[in-house]
Amino acid sequence: MPRNDMPIGIFDSGIGGLTVLKEIIATLPGENTIYLGDTARVPYGIRSPETVTRYSFENARFLSSKGVKMLVIACNTVSSISLGAVRKSAGMPVIGVIGPGARAAVSATKNRKVGVIGTEATIRSSAYARAISVLDSSIEVFGLPCPLFVPLVEEGWTEGEVAEMTAETYLKDMRDKNIDTLVLGCTHYPLLKNVISRVMGDEVVLIDSAVETARAIKTALTDLSLLGGGEGSTRHYYVTDSPEKFISVGERFLGRKIEYIEKIELGSEA
Ligand code: DGL
Repeated sequence: MPRNDMPIGIFDSGIGGLTVLKEIIATLPGENTIYLGDTARVPYGIRSPETVTRYSFENARFLSSKGVKMLVIACNTVSSISLGAVRKSAGMPVIGVIGPGARAAVSATKNRKVGVIGTEATIRSSAYARAISVLDSSIEVFGLPCPLFVPLVEEGWTEGEVAEMTAETYLKDMRDKNIDTLVLGCTHYPLLKNVISRVMGDEVVLIDSAVETARAIKTALTDLSLLGGGEGSTRHYYVTDSPEKFISVGERFLGRKIEYIEKIELGSEA
């Protein structure tokens, strides 16, 4: 049986999900968290649905074995492809990032034209378009993969000429669609918010799935009477490749120190 003092388990293909963890800490500072980044097999965004699902099960199983009360899939690619399958087998509440982002986009749009940017796999899955259409089928959704944003952010190039040019090149067609709302459908993209906003213009509302997901987690824990309220919450991290890069890049994503980190093995590596 899940208990309030158990940690929340969060997993991602690598470092990106730390943007979701950052929002969880801001919204629910009293919760203990365990974060798993599958850094040996990142990126998931270029892989087949079968492979993403296999990796997702391994991640979910590992976190279950650590005694978590809830699973958060802090990865748009995994949430797009495997949320249903993980939910069926997890035996605990599972929250993904697509539903919360889609709900926020539906409330924000006035002209019923919404853009979604993400990895190749997320856009190919049409998961955001489906989730938005279930809520309001009159909304037109335009998807666009922006794969180069991920390495750009990991390199720390979130401002400056290269970031501006990349964003301009990807987003110029999106600007022509007359959207008033753009979903940042990838864990890394919130770090490019300033550049994306400059390219798209002030009138386009940017939806940060990480912020929306943290709100959804709070609501779910409240509804299930599973909110933790402890003081001095613990933050544990597990990675599948060496921790050094995760720590240096991750501390920038998270805006805080990463301690208590351990390398683990999961399945067979790609
Ligand atoms: N975390 C992934 C996502 O949000 C981006 C990195 C990857 O391709 O694995 O889609």
